[in-house]
Amino acid sequence: MHTGEQYHAVMLASRRDSRVRDRFQRIALNLLGDGGGVLDFGAGTGIDAKTYAAHGHPTFVYEPSQAMRDYLAVHCRDEIDGQRIVAVPSPIGCKVQMVTANFAVLNHFADHAGLFEELSCVVQPGGFVLASMLNPYYLGDARYGWWRRNLFKLLRSGRYAIPSESRIHRFAPRVVARAAAPYFRLERVQPRGLGRFTDLYMFLLFRRT
Ligand SMILES: C[S@@+](CC[C@H](N)C(=O)[O-])C[C@H]1O[C@@H](n2cnc3c(N)ncnc32)[C@H](O)[C@@H]1O
Repeated sequence: MHTGEQYHAVMLASRRDSRVRDRFQRIALNLLGDGGGVLDFGAGTGIDAKTYAAHGHPTFVYEPSQAMRDYLAVHCRDEIDGQRIVAVPSPIGCKVQMVTANFAVLNHFADHAGLFEELSCVVQPGGFVLASMLNPYYLGDARYGWWRRNLFKLLRSGRYAIPSESRIHRFAPRVVARAAAPYFRLERVQPRGLGRFTDLYMFLLFRRT
């Protein structure tokens, strides 16, 4: 189990994760309008939040883990002091152009219908939810028995959970899209092509309808 500080160090040391994070942040920053607000949902230690704030976006963070919040307060001390980053006790506490959820936050949910209903009150009309989720088709996981045992379930129902990885669920994009309707429309899934099987993470972009 990581403390917030350990998680932070491991994340920043991983070149693969840093590349994925850069791509995610670039998509978010390209979509955000000038001064558009963002809620980093499941913000962890605030790595993304600090970047959004540095680009002039009013940034809110929601993070349920105390250990993560403790290190977020250290990593983003200046931004919090200057109110460029504001920690909220519930996502409902803000109104923004975009909600981001980077690095598998949504894999902690067994079902997303309630979450998207809640986020529909947070995201302005025409705004976005951008999520990076574990890619259930990632062939790098095919070496594990749990992946092979759940393949049929994935193809049939588009979802499964692994008992040993408590509270981590895998979803096909269509299942998340169904849960997001009628509030959000799935606009983009990345990667496409071969990357659908070689990338550990997939990015899902939803637009508020
Ligand atoms: C792998 S970390 C990613 C943290 C951060 N987004 C990042 O990019 O480094 C997953 C995060 O999801 C958070 N999380 C778990 N369950 C959650 C929930 N129900 N709502 C919001 N966040 C949750 C965890 O506390 C953790 O910080």
